[in-house]
Amino acid sequence: MTKNKRANFGSKLGVILASAGSAVGLGNIWRFPYETGNHGGAAFILIYLGCIILLGLPIMISEFLIGRHSQKSTGGAYSVLAPGTQWKWVGRMGVLAGFLILSYYSVVAGWTLEYIFEAVTNSFSGKSANDFIDSFNSFSGNPWKPLIWLVLFLLATHFIIVKGVEKGIEKSSKIMMPALFILIIILVGCSVSLPGAEKGIEFLLKPDFSKVNGEVFLGAMGQAFFSLSLGMGCLSTYASYFGKNTNLTKTAFSVGIIDTIVAIMAGFIIFPAAFSVGIQPDAGPSLIFITLPNVFQQAFSGAPVLAYIFSVMFYVLLAVAALTSTISMHEVVTAYLHEEFKLTRGRAATLVTSGCIFLGIFCSLSMGATKEYTLFGLNTFDLFDFVTAKIMLPLGGLLISIFTGWYLDKKIVKSEITNNGQLKGSIYVYLIFILKYIAPVAISFIFINELGFLK
Ligand code: PHE
Repeated sequence: MTKNKRANFGSKLGVILASAGSAVGLGNIWRFPYETGNHGGAAFILIYLGCIILLGLPIMISEFLIGRHSQKSTGGAYSVLAPGTQWKWVGRMGVLAGFLILSYYSVVAGWTLEYIFEAVTNSFSGKSANDFIDSFNSFSGNPWKPLIWLVLFLLATHFIIVKGVEKGIEKSSKIMMPALFILIIILVGCSVSLPGAEKGIEFLLKPDFSKVNGEVFLGAMGQAFFSLSLGMGCLSTYASYFGKNTNLTKTAFSVGIIDTIVAIMAGFIIFPAAFSVGIQPDAGPSLIFITLPNVFQQAFSGAPVLAYIFSVMFYVLLAVAALTSTISMHEVVTAYLHEEFKLTRGRAATLVTSGCIFLGIFCSLSMGATKEYTLFGLNTFDLFDFVTAKIMLPLGGLLISIFTGWYLDKKIVKSEITNNGQLKGSIYVYLIFILKYIAPVAISFIFINELGFLK
């Protein structure tokens, strides 16, 4: 078990890979495509990119400097930087958001395990697009099967958290992340060459601004925070493990660029494939689980061995990408309980895992057995997603930008950005301007504009 000593990421690459490992996950490959599909395509993507540049990167740098300067996980960082104030609630809200996201995210992560199992046992072979729709619906609606995978996935996360992240995750991400990247490129190639793929490409590239409304903005902003793991102190917690020489600005740009490229490429896999077989782009959370197995079958219909190999590889890598993200969420909550309540890491992790299994069961059942129980028209799963991604994360981002832009001593900000004067830090002026004015105004505006959304 990891003892009290504060862990540190070994190398520059380790820092980037661990942070990118948190950012790149189901948010890019599962959530981004279905949100893009639900919100009409290219115009949503443009707004999403705007959110990444204008809100995502500055807030990521803020989280980094809050974490590294305080040397605390997000649950305790604000008590160090702003002792005796209410700012501590920003950290606590982040811990709660992490806990809630982990609960429903693990349900989908569990689905990836079922799909690995199906790929390995070759059960995709010979299925049509409609068969994939049916089999996804019957699996996700099954009362117990998804629960087993959910529990297994959370136990895997638990195991790594308890063992300590450095060796396992840092090492495996160095192999898995590049492998995922290469596989994604191959799949883009396959998908865009399917017959009828042009419509999907057009959907991604030709913006239709007539569909843009407040909901599209809220969706894009929520997706940007979710995908970059922002607004809940996840990257802030990781940054408390960064070394003194880590260049925070460069790291933020690297993570932002990697995350965005993976998301856009996932779009180029899913939509050409979906349009090619006539699946609606607004199918929601089931989108990738229906279209992808179909891509493998169709693109490699002449070479079933390749279809088999690629399916297995893809779902294994998807599960790994999800795992590096669930670890980062779990770490936020575990580190909070460990540091603030003096529980051992093992005990803290056990509490988090059991709590998430408990909530995860409700989320999972709400895809089938308890579908009719809704609040504001959303089942438990969708409600968790909505409340966290579209409310808690942007709200966290809003407060973090106000904290860094207005409250925090600017000497701290400057010394963190420049590593105590060693780096140029020419970005400082822009950063402060965005954090002080642009980000708070933009986020509030999107919120206010959507205030009637729950009607
Ligand atoms: N960014 C992760 C993904 O895209 C999800 C995540 C959200 C991770 C919030 C940590 C915190 O899959």
